[in-house]
Amino acid sequence: MSIPVLTIDGPSGAGKGTVSRAVAKSLDWNYLDSGSIYRSLAIAVLEKQTDIEDVDAVVAIAQAMQLAFECGDELVVKLGGVDITSKLATETTGNTASIIAVYPEVRAVLLQKQRDFKQLPGLVADGRDMGTVVFTEAANKVYLTASAKERGSRRYKQLKEKGIDANLELITKEIEARDQRDQQRATAPLKKAEGALYIDSSDMSIEQVIEEVINLVQ
Ligand code: DC
Repeated sequence: MSIPVLTIDGPSGAGKGTVSRAVAKSLDWNYLDSGSIYRSLAIAVLEKQTDIEDVDAVVAIAQAMQLAFECGDELVVKLGGVDITSKLATETTGNTASIIAVYPEVRAVLLQKQRDFKQLPGLVADGRDMGTVVFTEAANKVYLTASAKERGSRRYKQLKEKGIDANLELITKEIEARDQRDQQRATAPLKKAEGALYIDSSDMSIEQVIEEVINLVQ
């Protein structure tokens, strides 16, 4: 029996995580946050104080990495048995993840870890290359984006709500730099998959986006 897959790709801060989780919950499907796999590797690399330009060392860490995802109300991620959830969302983790994600050898190691999430009754996969590389067979694909300015201010609000000190201008600049790196890398760059539904969420509520995506699947 074929397992249905919905891919949601797009730049950081477009609302992919919130939308994907809500859609997965509504359809009762599994959820893959592929960014958290790259982020977990970034945390492992930073903890070992490995030179991020040493591709072989980063690949070795990726191969040895023991990751466990516990999906309750909130996602809990464990690296070698240690809860790293609180470190996942930081800017340092995200930027480091984006840098190591450029290496094709790293992407190759992480490919199977992502495909393992494809299980019945279905999968919502969120990332940069879900529809273009990891799950090309997916029946439904979405490319979700928003202007860098809007994504910057959403991220700023999120951080402020968590009591984390933030600078809007700096965050927007980092988002633009990350977009550029993710879109211009040679292997699996961020781009709209063929046939994907393009949604610009700049002027939409999250509820509107969720409704549009659920309508697509149904
Ligand atoms: O979605 P995110 O912000 O958690 O992802 C962090 C970084 O990981 C992103 O800037 C690039 C990389 N990434 C990737 O290259 N491919 C994916 N499918 C998901 C994330």
